[in-house]
Amino acid sequence: MQNQDIFDLIKNKYLNNNKEDVLHHVENVADIAVKLAKVYKLDIVKIKLAALLHDISAIMTPQEMYKFAKARGLEIDPAEEKYHSLLHQRVSKIIVQEEYGITDLDILGAVECHTTLKKNSSIYDKIIFIADKISWDTNFSPLFDDLLKSGTIDSLDKACYSYIKYQFENNLLVMPHKWIIDAYTELSNA
Ligand SMILES: [Fe+2]
Repeated sequence: MQNQDIFDLIKNKYLNNNKEDVLHHVENVADIAVKLAKVYKLDIVKIKLAALLHDISAIMTPQEMYKFAKARGLEIDPAEEKYHSLLHQRVSKIIVQEEYGITDLDILGAVECHTTLKKNSSIYDKIIFIADKISWDTNFSPLFDDLLKSGTIDSLDKACYSYIKYQFENNLLVMPHKWIIDAYTELSNA
């Protein structure tokens, strides 16, 4: 399948499920992530696929995500047990594998931890994570400018760290997922 065909297939999935708002968001994330991917010399098609697919589980309700995750034997984090919508990153990854036949680990990894990051996150993980956050909150636009200018792993780590720190310090995480605690600990020791 041509790249454009798969991009169109993904877009139609959102549209056919009345998720125009999510499509708008993932396209915005893709724009940001592609700009960063050029600076960080990543594969543009892979980053675009990860960005467009990261919220594909939005076609399900949180309750459906929970059932889906249970049916596939996922180990559920206490935070996901309480807030099922936190499962959306891991459920998206399974849909990407099962429905789109994608096996690339950079894409799957970035989709899977785009909300929380995790231990040993890859550069793809971090770019999708930060692009998602920048797209939601314009207060973080300066992070984007810094990353575009510097293009170093160090600045990418600092951007992820400052966003996670901001979330912890402002009690924005009602119940932190283990993965974000791990990522925060790791990045704070970097
Ligand atoms: Fe998102």
